[in-house]
Amino acid sequence: MVGKYVTETILADAEGIARAAQVLRDGGLVAVPTETVHGLAARADSDEAVARIYEAKGRPSFNPLIVHVRDMDQARELAEFGEEATQLASEHWPGPLTIVLPRRGKAALADAVSAGLATVALRCPAHPVMRAVLAQCDFPLAAPSANRSGFISPTTTAHVLASLDGRIDAVLDGGPCEAGVESTIVAVRDDGRLDVLRPGPIEMGALSSDGNIEAPGQLASHYAPGKPVRLNATEVAPDDFMIGFGAMSGDCTLSASGSLKEAAARLYACLHEGARSGKPRIAVAPIPDEGIGIAINDRLRRAATPPD
Ligand code: TXA
Ligand code: MG
Repeated sequence: MVGKYVTETILADAEGIARAAQVLRDGGLVAVPTETVHGLAARADSDEAVARIYEAKGRPSFNPLIVHVRDMDQARELAEFGEEATQLASEHWPGPLTIVLPRRGKAALADAVSAGLATVALRCPAHPVMRAVLAQCDFPLAAPSANRSGFISPTTTAHVLASLDGRIDAVLDGGPCEAGVESTIVAVRDDGRLDVLRPGPIEMGALSSDGNIEAPGQLASHYAPGKPVRLNATEVAPDDFMIGFGAMSGDCTLSASGSLKEAAARLYACLHEGARSGKPRIAVAPIPDEGIGIAINDRLRRAATPPD
């Protein structure tokens, strides 16, 4: 879709990274690869820049953003780290773990970043391109997945452009994402208890289900391909776009060898293909509910739930 911006594609070499950092400094929106999915970055300390993220995505203002930091020092300026949080960060950062923590009173963050909550979600990413951009910015980066709100997350630059061309300033092209599903989100409570809010590449145990939806990514319908999705399909109807796994091959196969890691990396690409295909329905082969398969099934269930 073409909107009011000309979206520039910038190659992620040294010059391109410097250019992307300049666009961000000026309050612009840049899609940047991370090791999970592509993020739509803006400076997290600017009300205007953060407002532009919500506008470009069509994201409801009650859905807070993840703030990406370059290191632990920057993270400590934004949130209160107790013992458990410090331990989690030292084990998994840089990497695909987002930690929800009490926001510091004097944190230099736009209010809209945490959508009125007293907490902030922080992640220190591992992708070399995202890290290089963060290193050149003296502010943290708010970055949700770089897709229109509610739609499938992007794992390639082409996916980003299909969703946001003309709505953002630039796309930093650093190749496809490795993990393929979004970061694990864990909230550290005041008493040190951990609640898993979103399963992801880092296994943290069962999804907590105290009935409170704090992360709208937990909403029943999300990652929607815009057509009906049938899960655990063991046979294919003629009008199905089949997403296969293991012995069950399809129009698009998540992993012929039955590797869950490969399946996670290909999940959104297959859903994008299914969304684009001429077939009116998507069917998905059964995926084992173990390891990163838990995150895959979590995303598939939401993709299969029709919007209200
Ligand atoms: O892998 C990822 O996490 C990617 C990359 C770009 O870092 N980002 C991503 O962002 O998936 P997004 O906006 O698509 O999902 C962030 C989730 C949302 O479900 C949001 O509601 C939740 O994080 N979240 C953000 N701040 C929160 C907070 N303070 N408390 C609870 N949930 C929060
Ligand atoms: Mg998202």
